[in-house]
Amino acid sequence: MTAALEAVELTRSYQLEGVAVEALRGVSLRIGQGEFAAIVGPSGSGKSTLMHLLGCLDRPTSGQLRVNGVEMSGLSDTQLAELRNRTIGFVFQSFHLLARTSALDNVALPLVYRGVGRTERRERARAALEAVGLGHRLDHRPSQMSGGEQQRVAIARALVGEPKVLLADEPTGNLDTHNGAEVMAMLDRLNSGSGVAIVLVTHEQDVAAHARRQIHVRDGRIELDTATAREEDR
Ligand SMILES: Nc1ncnc2c1ncn2[C@@H]1O[C@H](COP(=O)(O)OP(=O)(O)O)[C@@H](O)[C@H]1O
Ligand SMILES: [Mg+2]
Repeated sequence: MTAALEAVELTRSYQLEGVAVEALRGVSLRIGQGEFAAIVGPSGSGKSTLMHLLGCLDRPTSGQLRVNGVEMSGLSDTQLAELRNRTIGFVFQSFHLLARTSALDNVALPLVYRGVGRTERRERARAALEAVGLGHRLDHRPSQMSGGEQQRVAIARALVGEPKVLLADEPTGNLDTHNGAEVMAMLDRLNSGSGVAIVLVTHEQDVAAHARRQIHVRDGRIELDTATAREEDR
């Protein structure tokens, strides 16, 4: 079966005041359809850089990336944005919601870029919010919601276009334990229900334990890649 993501020898270096910082030094990785993987590693090891590449928010210095079988290196910026819009959902630590915009309109936004009509947009956004347990918060703005609710709105926005892969960079990093657990329960349910592959970055072992695979990154390389039994399977 076509991998959801397939990276071959990805590198990324940044120029910082004339000095090259090698954030990624050759990462090869295959994420299958419906997989649930956690990327762990110390601060500065390259986790966010890798996530941005996997999510086509950035381009590698060298190496290849296939997203759902499509090699991205040959694509123009417009084609890349379109591929991203159709196949990838991205969730950030700090939610990145539009502050003055309702939950419904935040979630509907990716469909605007896809040319979906207003009625269908609102219908699909409502369904996505219902799927994350926020059917009663459609007209709330981000400031009127808890952190956990805001992150669930961001997850609904990431999923409204029915992507193959959901990428989440420290999705519970700004949440307290209760809200973090709520968001993780939601991700578990979405992964087993809709079969979307999930790759998340985390510092927290109990968050990483939700995934069936743990990818350890250090100094811009994968140092260990292990399949783990989930807590409820033990
Ligand atoms: N835009 C940038 N410009 C220069 N250096 C960067 C930039 N982004 C990240 N880096 C450097 O790349 C390395 C990896 O960063 P990052 O991927 O953010 O790590 P992590 O998410 O694991 O904490 C770090 O040394 C960081 O300082
Ligand atoms: Mg990071």
